[in-house]
Amino acid sequence: MARVITYGTFDLFHEGHYRLLQRAKALGDYLIVGVTTEAYDKARGKLNVVDSLVTRIENVKKTGFADEIIIEETQGQKVNDIRRFHIDIFAIGSDWTGAFDYLKDYCQVMYLERTKNISSTMLREQNSPIQRIGIIGTGRIAERFIPEARLVSGVSTQGVYNPHLESAVRFAQKWEINAYKEIEAFYEASDVIYIASPHETHFGYIQSALAHDKHVLCEKPMVLEKHQADELFCYAKQHNLILLEGIKTAYCPGFHKLLGIACSGTIGAIRNVETCFTKLENPQYRELTDTRYGGSFTELGSYVMLPILKLLGKKYTSIRFDTINDENGLDIFTKISLEYPSGIATATCGLGVKSDGRLLIAGTKGYIVAEAPWWKTAYFEVHYEDLDKTEKYSETFLGDGLRYEISDFLSMINGSSSSEFKLTRGESIALSEIMEIFLREKRGYRNR
Ligand code: CTP
Repeated sequence: MARVITYGTFDLFHEGHYRLLQRAKALGDYLIVGVTTEAYDKARGKLNVVDSLVTRIENVKKTGFADEIIIEETQGQKVNDIRRFHIDIFAIGSDWTGAFDYLKDYCQVMYLERTKNISSTMLREQNSPIQRIGIIGTGRIAERFIPEARLVSGVSTQGVYNPHLESAVRFAQKWEINAYKEIEAFYEASDVIYIASPHETHFGYIQSALAHDKHVLCEKPMVLEKHQADELFCYAKQHNLILLEGIKTAYCPGFHKLLGIACSGTIGAIRNVETCFTKLENPQYRELTDTRYGGSFTELGSYVMLPILKLLGKKYTSIRFDTINDENGLDIFTKISLEYPSGIATATCGLGVKSDGRLLIAGTKGYIVAEAPWWKTAYFEVHYEDLDKTEKYSETFLGDGLRYEISDFLSMINGSSSSEFKLTRGESIALSEIMEIFLREKRGYRNR
């Protein structure tokens, strides 16, 4: 009895999948089909899968060709599956020719001709037209955004707006996109807007982009006053528009795994969260020269506050800021202490003082620790009183990580609400309130 195995995502099940399974089954007597998990697809850079794992499994099952369906969760699983299930033939489409030759040591490898003119990618693009992204701002983060956006299927970066035309032109030439000085023409040519301009300009740009009926992804900190966040989210909701704050950690798979474990009860009730992120910044950069809106907290505060809001919530009973300022009154190191009814938290950030930069979550049964750069979560440990019980977790974090937030932004535009919990409106509003308290208390700002 010949045993055959094949793998795939099988998203938006199509004729190519059907024919592949039909031929794979015909190669032997027993066919095992491995269907990839969402986490595995994300980890290998396959973003924007539409169907859930359950739907994809159901669709494979419906063909009647699979004698057994398994889940493919990790890289390197294939060799183990082949041994475990005593596989004789590994079959896969010809788009993978050569990629699985290493399995020839374990079984026969067959590449089956791919059905022409059909793929999940094609169907995804047909079902949801490509979203043309217009970028506002030409700074360092916008530079990092473009290569990441190019990895997400379903979006294309079409142009950039900057009131200083020379900057827009320089940026546009480098990335081979269009430059705009006139904002109306820019909106006309864009479906969605990514805002990466200086912090204090975010509110005005978001307002205007939403008023032009555009979905918006805005860099953190989204706005610097609570009433601004309230107003923008209320407008977006009324007009069925997506407004998302781009704190990349919130969307990265490893951070989600960490939150899931922290909230599962395994370390008991969470009583203390400590976060720290320091980055010695070039003294010439805006972050250390803009005495009004630069500084450690406006720059890094969103990252260090995120795990605290996620784990202890938005209802703190007290908040206190301790800062070290430079000679211009700009904070080069800030420590935020929060009290909650049943826990405490500290968040530390610095652009001019270096510290260890870890995330620590202490509970009544154990603690979780992730070292820097925990904001690009790839590894963390869970510790208990009994040292032998230590658990180690890792997760892929690809590139700059912006691809995850872009992909979630796109899924939300396309009608999936499955990513909304990653950074809720309420959490973004709470962050804007904390920014406002900080700027008012520490800098004596009266912006209104
Ligand atoms: N397949 C095929 N013919 C097609 C599309 C897919 O034979 N037109 C095969 C693939 O080679 C693979 C299996 O079907 O062996 C599952 O592929 P999957 O990656 O799920 O499908 P794609 O349509 O290629 O997906 P995507 O566009 O997301 O890469």
